[in-house]
Amino acid sequence: MVSTQPAGVQLSGRQYLSPTSTNKVNLSPNQGLLPLSAKINHQDHLEIGGCDVTTLVQKFGSPLYILDEETLRTACRQYRESFQRYYQGEAQVLYASKAWSCLAVCAIAQSEGLGIDVASGGELYTALCAGVSSDKIYLHGNNKSREELRYAIESGITIMADNWRDLQQSVELAQGQQPVRIMLRLTPGIDCHTHEYIRTGHLDNKFGFDPGDLDEVFAFVSKQQTLNCIGVHAHIGSQIFERQPHQDLAVLMVQWLTKAATYGLNLTHLNVGGGLGVRYIESDDPPSIEEWVKPICEVIQAACKEENLPLPKLLCEPGRSLIANACVTAYTIGSSKEIPDIRTYVAVDGGMSDNPRPITYQSVYRAVVANQMSTPCTETVTIAGKHCESGDVLIKNAQLPKTKPGDILVVMATGAYNYSMASNYNRLSRPAAVVVANGEANLILQRETYEDLIRQDCLPERLKS
Ligand code: LLP
Repeated sequence: MVSTQPAGVQLSGRQYLSPTSTNKVNLSPNQGLLPLSAKINHQDHLEIGGCDVTTLVQKFGSPLYILDEETLRTACRQYRESFQRYYQGEAQVLYASKAWSCLAVCAIAQSEGLGIDVASGGELYTALCAGVSSDKIYLHGNNKSREELRYAIESGITIMADNWRDLQQSVELAQGQQPVRIMLRLTPGIDCHTHEYIRTGHLDNKFGFDPGDLDEVFAFVSKQQTLNCIGVHAHIGSQIFERQPHQDLAVLMVQWLTKAATYGLNLTHLNVGGGLGVRYIESDDPPSIEEWVKPICEVIQAACKEENLPLPKLLCEPGRSLIANACVTAYTIGSSKEIPDIRTYVAVDGGMSDNPRPITYQSVYRAVVANQMSTPCTETVTIAGKHCESGDVLIKNAQLPKTKPGDILVVMATGAYNYSMASNYNRLSRPAAVVVANGEANLILQRETYEDLIRQDCLPERLKS
């Protein structure tokens, strides 16, 4: 197990709190394990957004996603302000809602001035229902259905054309309407170090036009009266700690703009995608939001100067780094199983259905016990979920204080790709989620009921007993 703790020093939940120094507002949310507002109260309980986590569980049940509004808003602002500081042209940050798509999260992002990147008709519907204006919504997808494209066109949003089929269908669907606003997603051929399932910049992947098609695509698009192509897009992957790949990408993308100009295309938008990594465990060391934004702006400015191009409107679309560390998942501890000389399993009331990342990507997490935050961690246990599957393990070798049934285990940094990839495996209900701020907790997702679980089931007449 990776640990930055010196030998002989025992951790407690306290160590995961952000420093309470005066520069707290400058902390980059993606670098903290617990949300910015996390504190320990006089009962030695974890408090987030002024709410005692154990009280939240009593009121809303568990598992419970707890979203700290302050952390999410701070991350949105840090992105926005970094572009204001370092980019001389116009910029627009989009929230990649695939990280967590629901009305409240879209509404918070939009109230912070962010636009929304959606990856399906469902995410588009959610963003529109949350009140996001259509000129700030961008639709992605490597296999958009005709219905999704029609919905996007009717809603007046921008389509990220990923392939020839997107272009052809957009042309067909646009007939007789306003020109359809599109951006071109291109594969940059840039590699980065992250899990192979979440790398997208290398040539061998399903997203975007192959660079070999660039000339043909620009030539085609430049001749279409019904398409209004405004720019280019690329996304190289997710949970990236290096900064160089995005800088290389920025240089390359400016070259694409220059090339497009030779086809008479005046592309004014450049979207560098998302991908900034976050801290899940102590040894993770991602750059801050500002450290990620600054070099990208500098590189684009220098490259545009060199190519004698006006500065494009610069877009990026982070998901994880906006929301991962703004959320924790609270579980109630239940049974345990001690296997002498092997390991002790401690089971919680959720698992791979509310957090499929460990079983999917071997992702690692840290946990604290919310009702005993200062107790030293003397035990090494494996946190198991409650699903009928041996691989349903949330954390291997977690360092925790001694726990008992009924204790509240809090897994940190669960805001990104947890709820959004949650399932009903074993017909478990998907958890509730609350947003917390200033001592108030508001439900943003209701816990599914048993009735919800069979809502879509149909029982044909002839099968009824
Ligand atoms: N833009 C595009 C086109 C994307 O495909 C993605 C993520 C993003 C932006 C946002 O990337 P982020 O800033 O969140 O790294 N389920 C995986 C992550 C899949 C990422 C998919 N695309 C996980 O749990 O790690």
